[in-house]
Amino acid sequence: MNPISARFSRITGTGSFLPPRRLSNDDLAAQLAEQGIETSDQWIVERTGIRARHFAAPDVTSSDLAFEAAKRALDAAKLDAAEIDLIIVATSTPDMVFPSVACMVQEKLGVQGCPAFDVQAVCSGFVYALTVADSMIRTGAARKALVIGAEVFSRILDFKDRTTCVLFGDGAGAVVLEASDTPGILASELHADGRHVDILCVPGHVSGGSVLGDPLLKMDGQAVFKLAVGVLEDVARAVLAKAERTDADIDWLIPHQANIRIMQSTARKLKLPMDKVIVTVDQHGNTSAASIPLALDEAVRGGKIKRGDTVLLEGVGGGFTWGAVLLDL
Ligand code: ACO
Repeated sequence: MNPISARFSRITGTGSFLPPRRLSNDDLAAQLAEQGIETSDQWIVERTGIRARHFAAPDVTSSDLAFEAAKRALDAAKLDAAEIDLIIVATSTPDMVFPSVACMVQEKLGVQGCPAFDVQAVCSGFVYALTVADSMIRTGAARKALVIGAEVFSRILDFKDRTTCVLFGDGAGAVVLEASDTPGILASELHADGRHVDILCVPGHVSGGSVLGDPLLKMDGQAVFKLAVGVLEDVARAVLAKAERTDADIDWLIPHQANIRIMQSTARKLKLPMDKVIVTVDQHGNTSAASIPLALDEAVRGGKIKRGDTVLLEGVGGGFTWGAVLLDL
């Protein structure tokens, strides 16, 4: 065994950051009405549970939000940035085509040398990134990792399409994951089914100096809804079985924050009352890869989730991708 490998990894600090500009449904509806697009607070709340979202200023990027969340997570873990030996950022809205947001965060933190890379699994990105970091810690490739989800989805929204532009927001969440003799992360499950690429995508790409195709988000909401509800139950059961735990062991469920109806359905299937589900979609909208670490940080700082609690994180999104991580905090 590698002399520095650890049996487990454990979250030792959480942090998050929301850009200050907050738009209620009424604010967004008024903005859309100026372009002749009709929506209402009532429609958005009834269909999604969303009441508000935050949008970054035009000159603020995913790496700016990620940096702020990372600083807060490092403070919570009582670590200096120089002690970090791995940085992974989950994002679908990077500052540039390349290099990675993770390299930009490393530069903003004023450190050099450790591996830094992005993971692209859309709204499942954070559970993918956390699983990669956990694996690297268990094999001894790292001991203290920063794992971040950061997005500026407002940049890729089509504000002429009311079926999608009311759903998303910007933000970042981060955790410090450290090698540990006690668990920690108990089990993970990651999945993808590329047959469903088209139901949720940003189909444009850069070619010869121009954008070819549409660079704005497209979604078949009902197809996504149906797939999400099915896979979230299956993956929860699979990760519980892998960790030899049951529904009854879950203290808190943190599902990807896309739609309150998907979250209610998952909770019902897992026989969990809604007061065991962390809900931030009402205030953040869907922040894609940032939604789970943002919700985790708010719940930890708000005193809901405490050290030792068993938490089930569940992601689902474009790809189609989905996954879950079961952990003891
Ligand atoms: N305001 C007012 N009316 C609207 C709006 C709006 N913003 N958007 C759609 N409508 C209208 C439609 O035009 C339609 O009108 P019609 O009946 O006259 O044709 C009516 O509302 C119903 O539209 P539907 O699309 O059938 O509404 P639905 O109940 O399916 O809700 C929604 C749409 C909220 C998008 C739902 O399908 C959903 O939540 N899907 C899952 C989306 C999701 O979770 N995505 C993210 C997961 S992955 C990731 O995070 C990237």
